[in-house]
Amino acid sequence: MATLKAVRGTRDLLPPETALWNRIEATARAVFARYNFGEIRTPVFEETSLFARGVGEETDIVSKEMYTWEDRARAASEKTQSLTLRPENTAGVVRAYIEHQLGETGQLQKLYYIGPQFRRERPQKGRYRQFYQIGAEVIGPPSAGSESPLRDAEVLEMLATLLDELGITGWTLELNSVGSSADRGRYNQALREALAPVVSQMCPDCQRRAVTNPLRVLDCKVPEDQPIIDALPRIADHLDQESERHFAAVTAALDAAYVPYRRNHRLVRGLDYYTRTTFEFTHGGLGAQNALLGGGRYDGLSEAIGGPKAPGIGFAMGEDRLALTLLAQEAAKAPLADAYVAPLGETMNAAALQLARELRHLGLWVELGEGSFRLKKSFEAADKTARQMVILGEDELQSGMLTVKNFSTGMQTKVPRAELAGFLSQPDC
Ligand code: HAM
Repeated sequence: MATLKAVRGTRDLLPPETALWNRIEATARAVFARYNFGEIRTPVFEETSLFARGVGEETDIVSKEMYTWEDRARAASEKTQSLTLRPENTAGVVRAYIEHQLGETGQLQKLYYIGPQFRRERPQKGRYRQFYQIGAEVIGPPSAGSESPLRDAEVLEMLATLLDELGITGWTLELNSVGSSADRGRYNQALREALAPVVSQMCPDCQRRAVTNPLRVLDCKVPEDQPIIDALPRIADHLDQESERHFAAVTAALDAAYVPYRRNHRLVRGLDYYTRTTFEFTHGGLGAQNALLGGGRYDGLSEAIGGPKAPGIGFAMGEDRLALTLLAQEAAKAPLADAYVAPLGETMNAAALQLARELRHLGLWVELGEGSFRLKKSFEAADKTARQMVILGEDELQSGMLTVKNFSTGMQTKVPRAELAGFLSQPDC
């Protein structure tokens, strides 16, 4: 019988990596609490029409990547429904905002979520079919200040703080404005006109997008198409005065808070609900899937799914990509145990357990080896797990003088047992 494996694009998370995931989530929760966000948990599946209307029928996510099924009626009172595993969480949060009439409070709702999302994408490094997002949304009636550029800047400043507190170094904030839906209509028209004489020289995807959704041409990564795309009109030249003013206020607030950013005129994002500010935080260490997180403003989303006017802004971080980045950073400086206790022969196992216990009680981080290993194998195992190795043989036990090998200096030292803990806890020079 063929062995059963996790489905393509899904994976198990095992220790020690799960400890890193828990640390990421704990840091995110602590930062969100300081900015007065509360947690929301929405269902993992929703009616398909929520994503079709919210995210947009023309998007890759809705048109090709959703896990959708017909859920059969089980009783006369039920009807067959089309359901979908959530490919993202913003539409679900806005659905919950409408359903629970959170706008009636007159307050801004600041909500965060952590959980799995599902997209049938081609799996590769940093891209999975079940992946995890840590996201947040700020949404409310205009009277609560939900349209203010200050909200955009605060969310971006919070993200810079969170990435710094997670210890992610070398991120870049890429920022753009896609304007109002009227601006985008004018821009789409300008793009269509500019693309008409050149599109036949472009890749098949661009040829299709030029007709269905010209904005998506800006996402193309095919090298030969880049000079053509660079020469296309920019959305910045099609923004109305209000959108321009909004963007200028966001960047002024970021400057005042010392949050660095780069204007990326091609950042239009793959979901249709965005208006005005769009952004991504990218990281060079991630390869092709270089977006650590993405987000933006969605002033018309609530109305698009049948709710009241409720402008909002939010983001979602790819938790898998945060973990990948931190693992790569930490591999460069993998934390090692203080000591590996290596018994010389199986008869020394019990004495080695006692020594490890003594050291651990004194607060040291200790790995215990195995007496049946040959010395070479013990050396190899110790070198991978600890800064130092303590050799415990018959002679060492009798004399009370233990041999300590330091892997970074290469030195081997005889240390009296009573001084061992102090010796092992010294930092390497
Ligand atoms: P998104 O750009 O589709 O936006 O996804 C946000 C982040 O989720 C990406 O930057 C990436 O880190 C991660 N991600 C997306 N797809 C995958 C995948 N297949 N495998 C691994 N990681 C992935 C949204 O989902 C919006 N809901 C964000 C938002 C919130 N906008 C406003 N509010």
